[in-house]
Amino acid sequence: MNINELKESFISLYEETGDDIHVYFSPGRVNLIGEHTDYNGGYVFPCALSFGTYLLVRKNQSRLVHFATTNFDHRGEVNLDESFEKEGKSWINYPVGVLNEFRKSTKEIEGVDLLYSGDIPNGAGLSSSASIEMVTAFAMNQLFGFGLDRMELVKLSQKAENLFVGVNCGIMDQFASAMGVADHALFLNCDTLDFERVPLKLDGMKIVIANTNKRRGLADSKYNERRAQCESSVEAIRKEKNIRHLSDLNLDEFNALSHLIPDEVEKKRAKHVISENGRTLSAIDALNKGKIEFFGQLMNQSHDSLRDDYEVTGSELDTLVDEARKIDGTLGSRMTGAGFGGCTVSIVKEDAVEDFIREVGKGYNEKTGLIADFYVAEIGDGSKEIL
Ligand code: GLA
Repeated sequence: MNINELKESFISLYEETGDDIHVYFSPGRVNLIGEHTDYNGGYVFPCALSFGTYLLVRKNQSRLVHFATTNFDHRGEVNLDESFEKEGKSWINYPVGVLNEFRKSTKEIEGVDLLYSGDIPNGAGLSSSASIEMVTAFAMNQLFGFGLDRMELVKLSQKAENLFVGVNCGIMDQFASAMGVADHALFLNCDTLDFERVPLKLDGMKIVIANTNKRRGLADSKYNERRAQCESSVEAIRKEKNIRHLSDLNLDEFNALSHLIPDEVEKKRAKHVISENGRTLSAIDALNKGKIEFFGQLMNQSHDSLRDDYEVTGSELDTLVDEARKIDGTLGSRMTGAGFGGCTVSIVKEDAVEDFIREVGKGYNEKTGLIADFYVAEIGDGSKEIL
């Protein structure tokens, strides 16, 4: 991203006043394993990407906050003396939701001009929305000296999405965006919020992201529905065992209690969550011991469970994964993020990456008529000010 060009765009949009323009960045993320476990008190293993959202900010000595982005034409404004209203499905709801949470915790901001610029493929399930929330939270905290730590900003951003945007997401995306470190993945316990930064020792391998380029229609409502199904399973199990989350159980314990869940679909959802949690622990152990092949097999199992038990994949993601697994140098391939379209993540031997991109792209196009995009992931840092 060319910061000088962004500054020029900022000035042509808001005019030159001589006041300082501050620049902040928060990344998107890719999750390696641990899917749909975060809101079930389980483990996740994401890493921050080198692409994300940049934010240019300048105080404007007024009671107005102006929003603009280089990604769309749509602009917006809120008045700090009025209540904030949600604006349809606009991208502005993400930053306004964050400002709303600051306000609720009596952290009062002043008028600012904001220009966002993202290089994450939009709607690809790589957390462009979490990166917008996090960069807003991080920037306001720095600019107005609120003194919140990163974890507090993560929680505030998640609340903005839950309460203002209306998506009942877990904490993983905001966490990864804030806490990432180059060449490390983040092993997070979403119940206790204890975490570890694990070096990604992938000698001779690359992380390849493939985008289905399928629009994620109805994804938010299906996401909320999955979450409700998990909560309902917890309620059913509580008749015999006092658990707080599905992740309090291992697979054997779940098998002994699953008869309590009357609904067969809910039972499958719960089984995914509990098996995925176990796989995530095994995957981190495998990585620490250098057993990358086994890590790849666990990624494959994760996808199959998301396809068969959690039912969040769909034909486009399944096709990308099937095609990826046909390539000799693929160690593992799975969907990443919420599902219902979006991206897959694969571990591929470096010397097979070119073949992978060509062959998977070809097979996917023949079977779906769609064109996939591929990114060889670079694992970058979390939220930061760019000086
Ligand atoms: C979305 C949510 C996350 C998480 C994933 C699925 O990305 O924002 O909180 O639940 O889906 O693992």
